[in-house]
Amino acid sequence: MDQFIIDGGRPLRGSVAISGSKNAALPILIATLLTDESCVVENVPVKLRDIKTTIRLLESLGKRVEVSGQTVRTWTHGSLKTQAPYELVKQMRASVLAAGPLLARFGLVRVPIPGGCAIGLRPIDIHLRGFDDLGARRIADHGDVILSAPALKPGPLKLKFPSVGATENLMMAAAALPGATTIENAAREPEIADLARFLERMGAQVRGAGSSRVSIRGSLKLSGCRHRVIPDRIEAGTFMLAAAASQGHVRLEGAEPAHLQAVIRCMRQAGAKLDPCRGGIEVSMSGRPRPVSIKTAPYPGFPTDLQAPWMAWMCLAQGKARIREEVFENRFLHAAELARMGARIGVGGHDAVTEGVEALNGAPIMASDIRAGAALLVAALAASGRTVLQRVYHIDRGYEKVEQKLRRLGASLRRVNR
Ligand code: UD1
Repeated sequence: MDQFIIDGGRPLRGSVAISGSKNAALPILIATLLTDESCVVENVPVKLRDIKTTIRLLESLGKRVEVSGQTVRTWTHGSLKTQAPYELVKQMRASVLAAGPLLARFGLVRVPIPGGCAIGLRPIDIHLRGFDDLGARRIADHGDVILSAPALKPGPLKLKFPSVGATENLMMAAAALPGATTIENAAREPEIADLARFLERMGAQVRGAGSSRVSIRGSLKLSGCRHRVIPDRIEAGTFMLAAAASQGHVRLEGAEPAHLQAVIRCMRQAGAKLDPCRGGIEVSMSGRPRPVSIKTAPYPGFPTDLQAPWMAWMCLAQGKARIREEVFENRFLHAAELARMGARIGVGGHDAVTEGVEALNGAPIMASDIRAGAALLVAALAASGRTVLQRVYHIDRGYEKVEQKLRRLGASLRRVNR
């Protein structure tokens, strides 16, 4: 298993290119199941493990997939299958997004129900309730759910929580249904708006994506198209925090400041300098941050995916900061690992309180999920001495070429296989 050996305490300096968004590319690639024609998706972070899993999922369902540079082309030769393999769903929960397009197109789909994961139970009840409301019948069978509907009926849907995945799944189903479907209390993340642009290019009409009310007028025959995925706001936010924690000065090429407003606001309060510049964002910081409390929330609130890296930075603040996690129930696994580096953190339920220390110290530590891994990287880059970071495979799910990018910025970091 790969490990990172990081000698911390060097300010990150220089510029780095932000990759295409993993969380936008994932549903967009899955949406290509809505047509047999050729779709070309550009700016895909193809090196990421989750994108490779998505490509395997598409292939297992009968899609042909060709990867060239950062571009992925998909088309259908023969017929598609309507059963997603457990092997892939257990590796990547977002595989359940195949349910919407397949159910709407073929009237039948069988998907394994994903189990919980390190950060929470993560049920898919909101997705399923939406399919019920579109007229699907469902039965549970040996860990799978089988959804069937001779013809789904478009109609009004209301989500009990603005789930990103459920909004995407239902938008994809609605895109294949003639007639109008509205989704109330929809997620508003930029990745939803990107999926909407893709569905529009395929021939659906989508209004209101990015707001809490999305309406979709679908079509029985969607066509192939070409699309460029938006930049990864979570990768950009992680590099912003790594730059600030290491007291460096970094330019993030291609980052979209409009997608990071909550984080930019909080970082400025903490004393970092952030300049949206032509084609990116520039970040610089010197000294320890002021403590700033945050609460995660669905977009446009502070993203849960940056809560862990934020905590890593606040461990160095000049005072106490409160961090409230409102989206997932168990997303503080990084706290105990940060404590091994000398951080002072109290955790109780959905709240954590950090009491900043002057410096963190390198230590042997372990990532428990993608974003916890990112937090430990941020801490290790800022810490004095050597950190050995284990279970790097979590980081590889969400951060493309992370060691090359960090080395370009002057970090001392190498990957070893143990
Ligand atoms: C997506 C992102 C993930 C991010 C999350 C929240 C992708 C591939 N992943 O995940 O990086 O952390 O949004 O911004 O885009 N929930 C239910 N029932 C459901 C669905 C969700 O209770 O049917 C709960 C979840 O357990 C969780 C919360 O709602 O506590 C948010 O989940 P959701 O917005 O669906 O996140 P994902 O789409 O899984």
